[in-house]
Amino acid sequence: MFITFEGIDGCGKSTQLSRFAKTLKETGISLVVTKEPGGTEIGQAIREILLHVDNNHIVPLAELFLYEADRAQHVSEVIKPALEAGKWVVCDRYFDATTVYQGMVLGQHEELIELLNNEASLGCQPDITFLLDCPAEIGLERIEKRYNNDKKKDRFERKTLNFHIKIRYAYLALANKHKDRFKIIDSTLPEDQVARKIREIISPYLPEKG
Ligand code: TYD
Repeated sequence: MFITFEGIDGCGKSTQLSRFAKTLKETGISLVVTKEPGGTEIGQAIREILLHVDNNHIVPLAELFLYEADRAQHVSEVIKPALEAGKWVVCDRYFDATTVYQGMVLGQHEELIELLNNEASLGCQPDITFLLDCPAEIGLERIEKRYNNDKKKDRFERKTLNFHIKIRYAYLALANKHKDRFKIIDSTLPEDQVARKIREIISPYLPEKG
């Protein structure tokens, strides 16, 4: 199984992903937990370039290629070998993030993105994508609470409310287009309830006990 988590910044994705991974490990599933950008050593260097606040002048095409370069390395080094070995892979963001951020919101050519996503993912399609959905105001509030000042926020977290609103609706539109794969979870609910909903969705896929 290949499971991805998506959502706007501050949607609670990281918290839920680590709770989810813990639940899966408890069931004895052999699991790889990873993320984009930055799921490999090369990817970490790419992530540094992408998220650094000094790199605001990066041109959109260079940004797109870096996300895809990160993905190409990540899929071939981590995701594909793990899936081929029969492991479960849980990934914090994947190609839907590029479709939404670089494509639907930042305006890069849809066909180019589809082509690059296909090439970089080497046929590894998520079986389930959890979209943790919350209003952009709530996401930004959570980011504010996480950091006491502007210094530690990355390049995307510093973007405006309007940007985050667009990202939210782009994700919802994409989820609507791929209803079979996307599971939209209301992440304004208390943390335990969100975790329970995710568990309920995954439970039919878990191996039988005993
Ligand atoms: P993320 O790792 O989720 O941030 P954090 O670890 O701070 O929670 O994602 C980093 C940023 O990169 C996020 O704002 C979304 C952006 N992003 C894209 O624009 N395109 C992509 O393809 C991916 C994977 C992420």
